[in-house]
Amino acid sequence: MLQLDKVTVNYGSFRALDNVSIHAKEGELVVLLGANGAGKSSIFLTVSGLNKTGNGSIRFRNKELVGMKPSQIVHDGVVHCPEGRKLFPGMSVLKNLTLGAYVHRADKKGISRSLEEVFALFPILHEKKDLPAGSLSGGQQQMVAIGRALMGRPKALLLDEPSLGLAPLVVKQVFDVIERINKAGTTVLLAEQNAYAALKIANRAYVIESGRIVMEGNRDELLNNEEVRKAYIGA
Ligand SMILES: Nc1ncnc2c1ncn2[C@@H]1O[C@H](COP(=O)(O)OP(=O)(O)OP(=O)(O)O)[C@@H](O)[C@H]1O
Ligand SMILES: [Mg+2]
Repeated sequence: MLQLDKVTVNYGSFRALDNVSIHAKEGELVVLLGANGAGKSSIFLTVSGLNKTGNGSIRFRNKELVGMKPSQIVHDGVVHCPEGRKLFPGMSVLKNLTLGAYVHRADKKGISRSLEEVFALFPILHEKKDLPAGSLSGGQQQMVAIGRALMGRPKALLLDEPSLGLAPLVVKQVFDVIERINKAGTTVLLAEQNAYAALKIANRAYVIESGRIVMEGNRDELLNNEEVRKAYIGA
């Protein structure tokens, strides 16, 4: 349903992505593993139309995304939850969530429905809905970021390092939620350095190094791969 074909990205004379071809089928959870600077965020920024320097083709349900406005890409169902959460810390949790539904702003009923779904998934956010987002714990802020992305009604959700900086117990909760979102029918592309936890919930994964895809396989192939274990799992 989402297919990148020979995507190349240059930042000035620096080539951040080199002929990247990856795909996610309808309903899959696909993990992108890579060290710092490998190019994971560049992939997501290019898919979501925020990075305009990409060459190649990115098709979503057979529609070309390259050249489309970011808001139109969200409207079509490809929603990006950025690295580092990018919340508005002074605004309430509710306001932050509602901003994720900006492209659906004419559909007030739909927005209330999405909000109910987000609060069902994250009851703590309902409790804290009137507090400034910046006053929440790191894990709760990550829930706001994921919730805000869900307010865009993703068919394909791009999650950029959602477990970054979180305590192990919270990491587990975040991965549980991602698994639930995927099981409910949303295709997920997940960039992670937390390789073991990510692979556990994945169908397939790619490994990216210096802007190139160097390995791909299903969950068990990667979990059992000696190089992957050494480089990303440490066992
Ligand atoms: N706007 C930019 N201008 C110049 N270089 C950039 C820009 N954005 C990213 N880069 C470079 O491109 C490469 C890939 O960066 P990217 O952020 O995609 O990596 P990443 O895999 O997401 O890393 P991390 O795990 O640290 O988030 C890095 O070498 C980075 O320094
Ligand atoms: Mg990144």
